[in-house]
Amino acid sequence: MANIMRTLTVNLGARSYPIHLGEALLPRAGDLIKQVGCGEKVGIVTNPKVAELYLATVEASLRRSGFHVATVVLPEGEAHKNLDSLATIYDRLIAERFDRSSCIMALGGGVIGDMAGFAAATFLRGIPYVQVPTTLLAQVDSSVGGKTGVNHREGKNLIGVFYQPRLVIIDVDALSTLPTRELVAGLAEVIKYGVIADPKLFGLLEERLDRVLALDRELLVEVIAASCAIKATVVEQDEREQDYRSVLNFGHTVGHALEALTGYTELLHGEAVAIGMVQAATISARQGLCDEKSLSRISGLIEKAGLPTKVPSNVGLKELVWGMEVDKKSIGGKIKFVLCRGIGATEFQRFSAAEIVAQLAA
Ligand code: NAD
Ligand code: GLY
Repeated sequence: MANIMRTLTVNLGARSYPIHLGEALLPRAGDLIKQVGCGEKVGIVTNPKVAELYLATVEASLRRSGFHVATVVLPEGEAHKNLDSLATIYDRLIAERFDRSSCIMALGGGVIGDMAGFAAATFLRGIPYVQVPTTLLAQVDSSVGGKTGVNHREGKNLIGVFYQPRLVIIDVDALSTLPTRELVAGLAEVIKYGVIADPKLFGLLEERLDRVLALDRELLVEVIAASCAIKATVVEQDEREQDYRSVLNFGHTVGHALEALTGYTELLHGEAVAIGMVQAATISARQGLCDEKSLSRISGLIEKAGLPTKVPSNVGLKELVWGMEVDKKSIGGKIKFVLCRGIGATEFQRFSAAEIVAQLAA
């Protein structure tokens, strides 16, 4: 049977790009990159875990297509999403005499994708880059939409730019090696897309969650395609998050605060967002926007996926207020909070952090 491959497009005028999604795409990376017109050099940015699993396949594919390959293996983990890692990338590109036609490939999860994208945006004032996401979170979220950057010791993602990739290659086969906890955390973002924009996707997850978790390839392609299509539509309307793109932050206001308050070690991003989504849906119900049945379906699906739904007991309500107040997206003390109108529609309301917590405690 032929391998599945689907192509979506992110329509942004001159900055439009395809997302190729399917099976056995890593061995075809060279050909797919050739089609978007990169020069003769490709710099792969990855980490040791992903390198061990997929680097040989990708390097071989690029070489078969005639590319000169330079690989930068950065240390593993969020703690290395910083300016030191960027310096390592720049040093290597300069040593290899990369020019403006050369291309960077991000091979890994969101940490690698954000750093490689930022390096591409800034090296020689901008060279093309390709996202090859290998976690579910990166496949449905961080590889699409052009947010790139690194952390500062004072906070996450404080240094960054919007810079769209030239191409996204999503190979669902890479998910077979992903630890289950990471897979489930990525699923939280898929559930988010269902809640904010796609009741059909939400229903599909409710019905076939066990098959998604069993990595049914056809189903994975369907849910990842639905997720990327929603992200693309949002980004097409508001590329630089002036307004509507904040809809993607459903569950993230409380989620980001919980990640920060638990030192970025206790909860994975998707787990924190899962808790945040249940809290946002609860507030939506209190505001009369979300009916009780939808609220129970949202918390039910999150729980069934194996994700947490409750604020951890070691986080007090006062701390939660503080955690949200320092959110970099708060303006004049008010946070643009995303509420859901049942499943498939949203509404923004401005609340102070104290008002959010008061509604949770009510
Ligand atoms: P990650 O990049 O840290 O990857 C999670 C873990 O999985 C790592 O240990 C990684 O080495 C490993 N891994 C990656 N692919 C694997 C595979 N196929 N098999 C086995 N192990 C594999 O985490 P993530 O959840 O992918 O991304 C989180 C990052 O993404 C954060 O830095 C966050 O700020 C960023 N992010 C960015 C955006 C955006 O729009 N740019 C959106 C959401 C999150
Ligand atoms: N991850 C949210 C966004 O890309 O806007």
